[in-house]
Amino acid sequence: MKSICLALAIVATSLSLAGNLSADDKSDKVTLGDPALTAGIPGKGPLEMSDINKWLADPANHKPLTVELPNGLNAAAGQITGLDANPMTRAKIELGRQLYFDPRLSSDSTVSCSSCHHPDYGWAFESQFGIGVDGQQGGRNSPVAFNRILSGAQFWDGRAGSLEDQAVGPIANPIEMANTHENAVKTLKNIPGYKAEFDKIFKDGVTIDNVGKAIATFERAIVTGPAPYDYYEVVRSFEKQIPADELKFLKEDDPELYKKYAAAKEGAKTMSESARRGREIFFSEKGKCTACHAGANFTDEQYHNLGVGMDAEKPDLGRYEVTKQEKDKGAFKTPTIRNITQTAPYMHDGSQKTLEEVVEWYDKGGHPNAYLSEKVQKLNLTEQDKTDLVNFMKACTGEFPKIETGRLPK
Ligand code: HEC
Ligand code: HEC
Repeated sequence: MKSICLALAIVATSLSLAGNLSADDKSDKVTLGDPALTAGIPGKGPLEMSDINKWLADPANHKPLTVELPNGLNAAAGQITGLDANPMTRAKIELGRQLYFDPRLSSDSTVSCSSCHHPDYGWAFESQFGIGVDGQQGGRNSPVAFNRILSGAQFWDGRAGSLEDQAVGPIANPIEMANTHENAVKTLKNIPGYKAEFDKIFKDGVTIDNVGKAIATFERAIVTGPAPYDYYEVVRSFEKQIPADELKFLKEDDPELYKKYAAAKEGAKTMSESARRGREIFFSEKGKCTACHAGANFTDEQYHNLGVGMDAEKPDLGRYEVTKQEKDKGAFKTPTIRNITQTAPYMHDGSQKTLEEVVEWYDKGGHPNAYLSEKVQKLNLTEQDKTDLVNFMKACTGEFPKIETGRLPK
């Protein structure tokens, strides 16, 4: 049997070398957001051991993936981080998916990552603060768990150096999942499906580091799809490069290119005039938003003080707690603007309920304090400008991949 398989493998390899290389390459190349990556192990009803074994036996599920980002976000492809140390495979994404939605990682099996970063709430949550085991709350709002593939240091204050480090934190955090790493590992080892998956995917089986690697890999697969704003950018670049009188003949001259243009025009339809004006404000001196919300994911991944919460008796000092540098007092990591309509309330302390409130905050120049970023200044926007800015941010909302939230090992 073995030798037949080997012979077939050799034939397959030589076939691919004989000119089929690109097809072989292609099989490893995926665009994140492809729902197949997060659809769970194929099958219906409770996940059976036989389903898991079949899944693990397929070599295609263990091939390192070459990933591309969806349109729009792909402008930030150069910013992809973490894959060298922890390559993505279909099997690792799937294991991470199961762990992400599994409350058995918490001390009393009631809280999972998705309790505070839920797909129905834009991978964040609607409460002001995260709510952990026994209803405990901290002082910070749940940030989004998507587009993490473009982000290095994690948390509002950047205290976790990588997504892998971040992912194991909540399990042992007394006010989140309130477990110990030791106990979580023991629990997983006692679930045959998990044990089989870890043993096949990682050389050293179930360890807390591998839990972190799997969850981080799943999170990296969660990306925002193209928004009306992204289509509008494509339309703009067409119209900038091709004069209007030539654009009319594109359909005959270059049908392929025309198709792309027409698709972008269609996608940009929901980008209202107001949102288009808002875009100008966001990107220009008038709003100065891109001084920090820069790049395709609208964040510089840096820390800034806007004065949020600084009027408290004992303010949350944010980045300062990590660096102990005076200048970092009250500074927090710039969050993304993508899918912002789904992730209220806003700011590190969840103190602002609407985008209108946020825009007012910037218009008045933040809250004065000794450490206020010099990039935050009074804007003197008109009421129309404010509405336009809000509408622009709304137009930065795209679709997420469909996610299986059940089908966990028994
Ligand atoms: C009880 C609610 C709660 C649970 C459970 C929880 N988180 Fe969080 N998460 C938060 C809060 C609140 C923060 C921000 C904390 C901070 O910055 O100090 C956060 C931060 C993060 C970040 C950082 C995002 C960024 O922009 O830097 C990621 C990623 C994340 N959590 C993923 C997870 C994963 C994975 C799990 C499960 C292992 C999990 N969380 C469990 C509430 C929760
Ligand atoms: C100096 C850098 C900087 C500038 C300029 C800036 N932002 Fe921000 N933005 C941040 C940071 C940092 C936060 C989080 C602050 C906190 O929680 O304390 C934030 C938070 C936000 C949020 C809430 C996001 C969330 O998930 O909670 C929105 C919306 C937002 N900014 C929009 C804008 C708009 C619109 C502009 C332009 C008018 C703008 N920002 C200008 C850095 C900046």
